[in-house]
Amino acid sequence: MYEADSRHTWDLDEVRQFPLDDRDLVISGFPKSGTNWMQVMLSNLWDDWTTTRNEYRRVPNISGRLSDDYEGYESCISCDPPRLMKTHLPRELFPSRWPEHGKVVHITRNPKDVCVSYFANFSRLGDVPSFAGSPQITRDFEEYLEQFLRGEVLYGPYLDNVLSWRDFEHPNLLKVTYEEARADVRWVLQRIIEFVGKPVDDDRIDRVIAETEFEAMRKNSEVRNQINVPKVLHEEKDGGPVFLRSGTVGDWKNGLTVAMSERIDDELVAPLEEHGVNLRYG
Ligand code: A3P
Repeated sequence: MYEADSRHTWDLDEVRQFPLDDRDLVISGFPKSGTNWMQVMLSNLWDDWTTTRNEYRRVPNISGRLSDDYEGYESCISCDPPRLMKTHLPRELFPSRWPEHGKVVHITRNPKDVCVSYFANFSRLGDVPSFAGSPQITRDFEEYLEQFLRGEVLYGPYLDNVLSWRDFEHPNLLKVTYEEARADVRWVLQRIIEFVGKPVDDDRIDRVIAETEFEAMRKNSEVRNQINVPKVLHEEKDGGPVFLRSGTVGDWKNGLTVAMSERIDDELVAPLEEHGVNLRYG
């Protein structure tokens, strides 16, 4: 993994030794792949997660550092199972008790949308003290694209990270994509509920889908506050929080030139497809 800035990540050896339990569930995905959306849905489908009994019902990041507006490793380790947690780590840095203990839902998103979304969020973080000075903070998209393709972004390289999960098969791993969740979120949730093995009644599924629909979430500050991102990304821009930016499949068409898009096709999309990842759903 690209040597992430230690101001954002917890000691990764401690993360490897995390006492994962059979009842724990972890949402995994490269940043900007829809991990927060998934978190908010899964924390609201069930009430028994010990990790979400915090002020905002936020799902903590197992490798993240705790701060006033971010739930991290300490929140995970201080709770008993069943814990709902998240991670952006590649599989080889994930707690070593998995896959024998605990379950993982992994979400993949088209790297073009990931790159555009990552830049839109990261270019704002230069004003946040813990991010100031990070090499990835740039307001120049062309420069950012080069960094992204070289893998020099937090939790990068994208391809190594995503394939570490996508190339792995185990009954304790369920793979979904952002694209299929946007096309048919009910179907995705039903697969997850079956995988987790804790039935949920239809009314509750309906309510969770309605509350976490993109526009509904933009308008509802209570649901929005469940998102685990630095405060600056909760600020309002264009009638909604910066973090809930576009929420669509294919928004990269507004941000990438044809040449840029072709480079990502060659360097990231084609290898993903060679590994059987279908991003063209819907
Ligand atoms: P965009 O920047 O393209 O809008 P992550 O949580 O992994 O960082 O992913 C962030 C992306 O998920 C952002 O993409 C964000 O808008 C999108 N997202 C968050 N909540 C969503 C929702 N309820 N429905 C659809 N997309 C959502």
